[in-house]
Amino acid sequence: ILASIIAIILAYLAGSIPFAIITSKLFGLKDPRTFGSGNPGATNVLRTGNKLAAALTLFGDAFKGWLAVYIAIKFAPDLNLTVTGVALVALAVFLGHLHSVFLKFKGGKGVATAIGILLAIQPWLAMATLATWIIIAVFFRYSSLAAIIAAIFAPFYYYAGHQIAWYRLPEIFWVICLISFLLIYKHKKNIANLLAGTESRLGQKNRQKT
Ligand code: G3P
Repeated sequence: ILASIIAIILAYLAGSIPFAIITSKLFGLKDPRTFGSGNPGATNVLRTGNKLAAALTLFGDAFKGWLAVYIAIKFAPDLNLTVTGVALVALAVFLGHLHSVFLKFKGGKGVATAIGILLAIQPWLAMATLATWIIIAVFFRYSSLAAIIAAIFAPFYYYAGHQIAWYRLPEIFWVICLISFLLIYKHKKNIANLLAGTESRLGQKNRQKT
């Protein structure tokens, strides 16, 4: 149980690392919390026009999610981690991104981190979810809408893989549902903007802070 608690705390700390803010500083860009949607995430960093900084943000935020869950799964027997322990590590790294200890418990919306988590759980699951994101993003040009739709589909994709034992783990299924729910909840302003027709499209720079 001690190992599980340490793993969960470490995952939370890893999730707390705000790559949007780190890369923005490295590239001499404005703090993403001060413009556009005000969200410290890859989409908002992209609004500066710096694609590399946005890509690095996406990679960093996804990588931390992947790494935490990958380590938890790989070393589960050595760390005496149960499936619940692995599920809690996934939740902890996600919550770290949403409520970072380094940002006074504020944070991002969790899209990149969720993809990283799914990748560690099952690569095909991440691919299916990412493909959903890409299809919606290409057709509608809204990063937020793509994330919301992909989040709705992710639990179904996991469930659909029920042929293989690992996919059927209810703890993992429920944590994916919870992550999807929290991710969509974090997009409530985006949902309001989408309904009002004021959401900024991908590639559009410098939307007003809402
Ligand atoms: O990466 C989060 C995305 O889904 C929405 O970001 O900045 O448009 O609120 P943003």
